This record gives sequence, structure tokens and C-alpha cells, in this order.
Amino acid sequence: MIALRMSLISWLMIFCALPSSVFGFSSDFRFCVATAAHQIEGGNLNSDWDRWEQIPGKIKNGDHARISTDSWNHVDEDVRHMKDLGVDLYRFSVEWAKIEPSPGVFRAAEVERYRDLVRRLRAEGIDSMVTLHHFTLPAWVADRGGWDWSGIADAFERYVAFVAGILGPDVRLWVTINEPMTVIAGGYVSDVFPPGRGNISLIAGPITNMVRAHARAYHRLHRILDTSDFRPKVGFAHHLRNFDPGRRGNPLDRYLARKFDEVFNWAIPLATVDGKLRWKVPFLTRTDVFIPEAVGTQDFFGLNYYSRDRLRLRPFKAPFIHRETLRGADTTELGWEVYPVGMDRLLIKIRMMFPGMEIYLTENGLADQDDNQRIPFIREHLKVLEKHIRDGAPIRGYCHWTLNDNFEWAEGYTAHFGFYSLEPGTLKRIPRPSAIWFGEMTRKVKETGRLGE
Ligand code: FCB
Repeated sequence: MIALRMSLISWLMIFCALPSSVFGFSSDFRFCVATAAHQIEGGNLNSDWDRWEQIPGKIKNGDHARISTDSWNHVDEDVRHMKDLGVDLYRFSVEWAKIEPSPGVFRAAEVERYRDLVRRLRAEGIDSMVTLHHFTLPAWVADRGGWDWSGIADAFERYVAFVAGILGPDVRLWVTINEPMTVIAGGYVSDVFPPGRGNISLIAGPITNMVRAHARAYHRLHRILDTSDFRPKVGFAHHLRNFDPGRRGNPLDRYLARKFDEVFNWAIPLATVDGKLRWKVPFLTRTDVFIPEAVGTQDFFGLNYYSRDRLRLRPFKAPFIHRETLRGADTTELGWEVYPVGMDRLLIKIRMMFPGMEIYLTENGLADQDDNQRIPFIREHLKVLEKHIRDGAPIRGYCHWTLNDNFEWAEGYTAHFGFYSLEPGTLKRIPRPSAIWFGEMTRKVKETGRLGE
């Protein structure tokens, strides 16, 4: 009997000593929604994107972001909805073009609006993750060459220092640049984003400048904000995709998929490990530069995960590289394949390449106006996270893209990523059924640590 009691007690002791991750989501796991200033605020008139939207044919239906969700006039409603969703983190971006509308002219009032928002959120138990660059540049930066401009890292650092001086003490999580490679793919490889260069041989310069700008911002944020008992966390939000060969056995397709993975997914994250930014795609693009200031500049790995691409090389049929979706695959309103396994594959690689580094799902979501796919989509992706967390991965949060339907870049208003749709004319936010489900789910997970069925 004594032996039995002893063993019960020791079992109890072992049970209590186990890390909470063994059981799934810990109580400090963050549920979150993500947005970007240009997509929701309206009135971003001094930016490269506002100009881009005025070029006929660039945005579906000739849409523009001049009003969009008019977020500043709907703060009450939106914060209430975040509470309903049960999120305790809000990822949003601040708009450089509004804060520094012309070189060296900084508008404190613009940053104070964000500071008030941060405090308001905090009062509701919601922390902030602030993105400093989410696709848009001030028009004056674009005029000097945008990401090609050799002075951009200096200018970015100055702007970041100004923002940090006002917002800093209230914010613990910073994203320097959102999806640098999406800017490159959209604006330099193709021409669906500004500056619309459409020439892959031009990508090395702007990528190098992005890594430099990130590194400068990283160090400046820490210099300004670190104290003996406060050290904010700073990182990128990387858009990683799964690149698979269109034809499995085809060596050209396999090579293509490998090269896309090397350049699009890993070139920038790896440069933050050893400072070496390099890749080689014969005849098209290569680079090999050392950026010493980039070493060790990710406090967390920000992963934006959406889908995968199957690539097929057709040497005799322009545009030569074709993106395909598996026949019969489940796809979203934008034709993106629903592929949660891809998130698993990427997390396995991230954990191998960045052992022990904290991970945030800084974006994950889908365009689904009818809301038929959103609940299973989120559930399947969260199951992948749960599996990794049980396996001991330091995954700290999940940001769903996004709160409200908004301006989806080249797609205009045709892609519906929101938990809430907007009533035309009034911009009243209307919950989709998935919003209600998400609120119930987050509460249950917070209570039990499990996703359940
Ligand atoms: C991501 C972007 C975000 C939004 C979603 C749908 O790549 O970061 O702004 O467009 O896709």
C-alpha cells in the first residue's frame, strides 16, 4: 500500500513538472488578427501604392484604397470585435508615408494615434505587434528609387527611430519588414506591385537593401528600447511557400522548385544567421554579399503561411515558368490550394534551421466570401500548430489574416479575407459565422489547452 501511495505521489510530481507544451496550447499562447495600414485605413495619399492604383489596369475593377475600411473611424467597433474573437494580440502596421510625408518632416500626431490605439487595446487585454513596413513606401522614397535607393536603409532607420520614440515603451513585438520576398516577386520579378520592374535579373540590389534596412532597424530598436527589465522582440514576417515540381519525375521542374525554395524562402532568413546573402540561378540572377550587421537579427521567426505552388518549366512556352494547382485540389476564392500539410513541412524546416527560436504565425488565412471553407481551414492549420507545440516547438501565437474584408492589393476588393464583411455604403462590419466560431474556439483553447474536435 505504501509502495502504491509513493508511486502515485511520484507520478503526480512528474505530471506537475512536465512543461505545459506537452499538453498543447499554453495559457500564454497568443490568438491574434493581422492587418496592414494601407489595406484598412484609407487616405494614404503620399505613397507609391496610391500612385500605382491610379494606373489603369493595375488593380481589379479599378479599385483603390482611398477609403477602404476607414478603420480610424471604426476603432470602437473593431476593438469590440477583437474582444468577441477572443484575441489577445493585434498585429497591425504603421504607415511610413503618413508619418514622414516628405523627407525629414515627421508627424508626431500620426504616431500618437497608433500609441492611443495600443493603449486602448492594452486596456482590453490585447497586446500589439507592430509592423514597420507592409508593402508601401512614401512617394518621396519611391522617387529616389525605392528599394533600389542606396540611402533607403538610413532613411528607414531614421523613421523607425522616430516611431520607437513614441510607441516604443508600449510595444513588445516588432516586425521590421513584412514579406520582403513578396515585394520582390510582385514588384521586381513581375509587375503586379510597384515599381513594376518585371525583370528577375534586377532583384539582388533591392533584396540587399531590405536586409540592410531590417538589420539597421533591428539594432536601433534594441538600442532605444532595451532596458534592464524590458527587451522587445524584433523579427521579419516571412512569406514562405511550398514549391513542388509540377511533374514529380521531371528534373527541370524539380530544379525549378529547389531554386524557388532557395531564393524565395530561405535566402533572407539565412542571411540573419551568418550575414551571408547568396543564391545562384544560372543565366538569371546570382548574388553573394556579406552583411555583417544582419547577423543574429531575428528574435523570433515570423511565418506568413498561405499555400503552395507546383512549378512547371516550359522552355518553349512563355512565360516559361508555369504555376499549377493539383487537379481536384481544394482551392480558395483566389485559386490558392488549401494545403495545411505545407505549414507542417515548413515548420519542420524552420525548427531545424533555427533551433529553439520562438515562432509566430504572423499570418494565415483565406479568401472565402461565402465562409464555407474558413472554419475547417483554420482548424486544420491549428491542428498542425498543436502537433508542433506538443512536440516542444516554441510557437507563441497565431495571427489570422484578417479582421475585416479590405483592399487586397492587385485584387482590389474582389478577395474576401475577413472574419467580418463590410456593408457597402455604411462600412458596417457584419460577422461571418466563422467569427462566432473563432470566438468560441479561442475561449475553449484558453481554458483547456486543447483544440479538441
Ligand atoms: C499576404 C500579405 C497581406 C495580405 C495577405 C492576403 O501575403 O502580407 O497583406 O495581402 O497576403
